[in-house]
Amino acid sequence: MFSRIARPQAINIVGNVARNFSVSAQNNRKVAVMGASGGIGQPLSLLMKNSPLVTELSLYDIVHTPGVAADLSHIESPAKVTGYVGPDQLDASLKGCEVVVIPAGVPRKPGMTRDDLFNTNASIVANLAKACALNCPDAMICIISNPVNSTVPIAAEVYKKAGADPSRIFGVTTLDVVRANTFIAELKGLDPSTVNCPVIGGHAGITIIPLISNCTPAVQFPADELKALTERIQDAGTEVVKAKAGAGSATLSMAYAGARFAISMIKAMNGEAGVVECAFVSSTVTEASYFSTPLVLGPNGMEKNLGLGSLSAFESELVTAALPELKKSIKKGEDFVANM
Ligand code: 2OP
Repeated sequence: MFSRIARPQAINIVGNVARNFSVSAQNNRKVAVMGASGGIGQPLSLLMKNSPLVTELSLYDIVHTPGVAADLSHIESPAKVTGYVGPDQLDASLKGCEVVVIPAGVPRKPGMTRDDLFNTNASIVANLAKACALNCPDAMICIISNPVNSTVPIAAEVYKKAGADPSRIFGVTTLDVVRANTFIAELKGLDPSTVNCPVIGGHAGITIIPLISNCTPAVQFPADELKALTERIQDAGTEVVKAKAGAGSATLSMAYAGARFAISMIKAMNGEAGVVECAFVSSTVTEASYFSTPLVLGPNGMEKNLGLGSLSAFESELVTAALPELKKSIKKGEDFVANM
């Protein structure tokens, strides 16, 4: 059981959290959003602008960032917002950044898997990772761009080639946790903000492994309901893709999840104790060389990997089923960089 997992406070988007907060020098944090004009990038940038923990917000994209930045800059929170547009301004957008969130790339359309995005998004992430390694090698890199199971290994391989430290690269799997919390709360009549269900593995289909046996508060389901709930969490991204009917994939909930992860990271960097989030990282926990598990975050990123915890027989079978696909996606990402 991950009894130590403290649920981060919900992100307050409408309240006056930002207004009445005095920011001390030690808490000054410069955050970059790469792909800031896109479907995830815009609401994610709004949530980061709303956080009193962010003092500078750098918005990069290949189009429209001056407008997005001008718009956000009118919001009455401390962060100074700057828009950077096009490859010529990529390096400048990353200078001095301590946290970089990357939602850049194309989303799924109905009938597509996350892996179908590989051909387009792999080079986008490789290019951005190269720029991060050059301009802000000590920053925490939070990767949202799909397929996360491949884009995280891509970024790590690019870092290794550039002589940078890949241990600060995190694949954002927070939306899977957010969905698990929400769906469990719906079924059990709970307030979703009080539920915390770790989700391990990767961020695609059967590689998404909710540990419902580790949920707090403890919840129980008959076997058929447990199977249906697990499959709903695994297929939740596709549920949104289908509902959007060609207009893309999850943007708003993903922005929420990306902001939750980035804000947890900033709190940990600021010295807050006990910050735990699941993320897809380089790992020795299973035979897959990257795996998401709950991580204790600290001033230097991952402080401790909490590992798998105790799994039910059902959850152990899910891990076994996920490993071949996970290993294949990781290798695909690593081979892409090797052949670049
Ligand atoms: C999702 O899970 C977009 O991968 C994202 O919906």
